[in-house]
Amino acid sequence: VEKWSHEDVARAEAVNGYVNFFLNRVNFAAETLESVLKAGENYGSSDMGNGKTICLDYSSINIAKRFHIGHLSTTMIGHSLRRIYDFLGYKTVGINHLGDWGTQFGKMICAYKLWGNEEEVEKGGVNELVRLYVKFHEEAEKDPALDDQGRAWFKKIEDGDEEALRIFNWFKALTLRDTERVYKLLGVTFDSYAGESFYNDKMDRVINELKEKNLLTISEGASIVDLSEDNMSPCIILRSDGATLYATRDLAAIYRHDTYHFDKCLYVVAYQQDLHFRQIFRVLEKMGYEWAKDCVHVAFGMISYEGQALSTRKGHVVYLEDLLEQAQKKALDIINEKSPNLPNKEDVARQVGIGAVVYTDLSNNRIKDVDFCWDRALNFDGESGPYVQYTHTRCCSVLRKAAEMSLPEADMNALTDDEAQALLRLLGRFPDVIKEAAEKYEPSMITRAVTDIAQAYNKFYYEHRILDGEPATAAARVALTKATKDVIKTGLWLIGIEAPERM
Ligand code: ARG
Repeated sequence: VEKWSHEDVARAEAVNGYVNFFLNRVNFAAETLESVLKAGENYGSSDMGNGKTICLDYSSINIAKRFHIGHLSTTMIGHSLRRIYDFLGYKTVGINHLGDWGTQFGKMICAYKLWGNEEEVEKGGVNELVRLYVKFHEEAEKDPALDDQGRAWFKKIEDGDEEALRIFNWFKALTLRDTERVYKLLGVTFDSYAGESFYNDKMDRVINELKEKNLLTISEGASIVDLSEDNMSPCIILRSDGATLYATRDLAAIYRHDTYHFDKCLYVVAYQQDLHFRQIFRVLEKMGYEWAKDCVHVAFGMISYEGQALSTRKGHVVYLEDLLEQAQKKALDIINEKSPNLPNKEDVARQVGIGAVVYTDLSNNRIKDVDFCWDRALNFDGESGPYVQYTHTRCCSVLRKAAEMSLPEADMNALTDDEAQALLRLLGRFPDVIKEAAEKYEPSMITRAVTDIAQAYNKFYYEHRILDGEPATAAARVALTKATKDVIKTGLWLIGIEAPERM
């Protein structure tokens, strides 16, 4: 150790059996800044995924139901993972596996025929469909024959009856029309909307294959795959009346492998469906598909609102569209109070309001439950979306002022203080954070990283005058500000949050 030397190491010391290396702070600052500034907003991107495909099943809403905040996590985790994988060079396929199959749709058509009319449904959209569905259940309690009618309508959908299909597809279009408004606000998109009904004509193949491979057994009239060896309850493939199930349709996703030849297929679905996915993946494995190991259930916890659990049954529901609406309003109130002269106030309020909601959703380990609380979401001083966005605007403002000065070449000796070094370390680590987030399917790691970077920048900003010092020092601090701005913007982008330039 005595003789050892390297230009990036300032000194090495032996302490209690450890060897401590001290980095050369000047070199470290110069190298880190150079790699960030050279790549700009692409810093941290990679071609490691070139030639590989990742399918992501996320959001996967149910037709004729309103989009409530229970579906926020699947939507945003999936959307963020997709951006992360894109950034790392993978080809990604975003799939909205619509819940558009089941007897409830027969009941809904039945209710529509009895009590609905075209105009009201067209006008009321999903709300009207929900109203009809609730009425159906009330009436069916009094008159059980209605259930048979509902089933008969579903049979018609299954058999491809023209009228039944027309109404069913119309209900679907209405639901998607209402949902699309929310996706647009969130910036979320998909490559495919192939949901459960899409697999209707693809299940026979799977059922036959299960039979050929001697995996199907009959139990109480139902066809099942026994999984007792694996300590799991059986996977039911066909009910005793011959009807297929949610699981049957997920097995038909063999189609996904045939179509996309994925290297991984991620199912971003609540942890309540843990058993379901373990069963499906095990059945695929028993069928001899070695790629079953590439199917991953990316599970997440529950969301509550202001400390209260959500329950459709108890009538405690929060619709996502209402939540986003309120978030934008509250953000606008704050902007009106703090910066009344800001141009494009409405647009900034949209970015900040949505950012507050999305940040909350992606701020913890995904498996942890999330509580949505306004005070925390919109706290400009705490760990929040607006706080990180605000730091980004602070950097932008420094850069705008710097653009009006003519600064000399930066002197890296100006970045050896503890605050600058702490910030540089976080920036230097950012590319690894992205890779780790991809590996662990954990967007919250990026949320954490941008928050740490924002905090480190603010600390640096308070401790040092950025523009007033010696010109070569100012130039170095401006360069660090530019690097910070780029990384925050990229990080926010990767978790699905916009970065305004002023707010
Ligand atoms: N529609 C389902 C739900 O809302 C989620 C579907 C998830 N994807 C899947 N391939 N099973 O619970």
